[in-house]
Amino acid sequence: MHERRHAAFATLRAMITTNDLAGELTGRRILLGLTGGVAAFKAAEFCRLLTQAGATVQVVMTEAACQFITPVTMQALSGRPVYTSQWDARADNNMAHINLSREADAIVVAPASADFIAQLAQGRADELLALLCLARPLAAAPLLVAPAMNREMWAHPATQRNLRQIAADGAHVLPVGHGEQACGETGNGRMLEAGELLEELIAFLSPKPLLGQHVLVTAGPTFEAIDPVRGITNRSSGKMGFAIARAAREAGADVTLIAGPVTLPTPRGVLRVDVGSALDMHASTMAEAQTATIFIATAAVADWRPAHAAGQKIKKDGSGQPPSLAFVENPDILAEIARSPRARSGDLYCVGFAAESEDLLANAQAKRARKGVPLLAANLGPATFGRNDNALLLVDAQGVTELPRASKRALARQLVAEIARRLPRAEA
Ligand code: CTP
Repeated sequence: MHERRHAAFATLRAMITTNDLAGELTGRRILLGLTGGVAAFKAAEFCRLLTQAGATVQVVMTEAACQFITPVTMQALSGRPVYTSQWDARADNNMAHINLSREADAIVVAPASADFIAQLAQGRADELLALLCLARPLAAAPLLVAPAMNREMWAHPATQRNLRQIAADGAHVLPVGHGEQACGETGNGRMLEAGELLEELIAFLSPKPLLGQHVLVTAGPTFEAIDPVRGITNRSSGKMGFAIARAAREAGADVTLIAGPVTLPTPRGVLRVDVGSALDMHASTMAEAQTATIFIATAAVADWRPAHAAGQKIKKDGSGQPPSLAFVENPDILAEIARSPRARSGDLYCVGFAAESEDLLANAQAKRARKGVPLLAANLGPATFGRNDNALLLVDAQGVTELPRASKRALARQLVAEIARRLPRAEA
């Protein structure tokens, strides 16, 4: 049951990613290699996502792969004839392995069978795909390998040895999933889902200005309970914070995302901590801030909470009078962290957000001073909550930088680059 739910979420995630990642790989040339495995059906979906993301895809299949899925399908999805043989006469110089490996910005083998990984480990060149991997220029054509196999084959010392060997030889080995396998057994060795493969590839190809950084992000609204069934919250969707967490991970950082109640999938490779109230968010964020090097506060934290949350549902008492609610102020997480010794000494770089309804620049400058942060990103709350796009005004000691309206993913990337440029270490 759990596995089925996992698969359903994965499909959903892949669907979400489909719309989300359009144009992310524009201009990139990806060589997609398929070897023999039931997971070949996922490679068909992956190919579709790659083309939707703007990549030019050249498919190469081994003889075994053709037993699982036909080159016809892969040609239709990639829009290009598939290569299956090293003797393919289409190449003028009859050197398909040389041409193909020099025309690729990255080679992704998905699925990569245990046998194929063994071939790579030994530097064999039995078929076109293994041959072109061997012939690839190591620096110009990185090789990503998405293993797919039965759990016993995965766990076998020979496979694990081969994986270590190909990683040492420069291949980037992607993780495997855990779950129900085509053979009916359950365990490790499932190939990643198509949407996950795409996210891994995009992250792999991204510049890494935040390598070695630990980024802490708060995102979404908080929920302040009135009684067990009611509470006060706001319309923040968490999308901007989640996009920033993803962009920071793509940029090479270790990322912890403290999320209020939202229904967004966790970006790959990001550690997520779910919280409810502002007090919960405060406690989790303060703990993580001990080790973070960058703190980005995008959460729309409730400014006040009911002074007393009733233990039982508050009932109408028949008098026609609504209950009176008293409020107390919540801690200001950003201001508190910005005042901490680590932030003051420059070990923790703090970035605030400002959701305003008018006078964006004046309010942003005042808020930056009040919060004591080096950088503040201001946006118009009503024009961004729940949307997939946004526009930001960055305010720091040097002045104002405008990031014009774009998708939250694109803005998140730009913001991450702006933060990386401002880090004290980067200036040294
Ligand atoms: N913030 C926070 N903790 C709070 C309130 C706000 O960490 N209790 C952070 C937000 O995550 C954001 C910044 O402070 O990065 C500004 O939040 P915003 O709601 O725009 O401002 P407020 O401080 O609440 O001020 P006001 O509502 O008066 O505009």
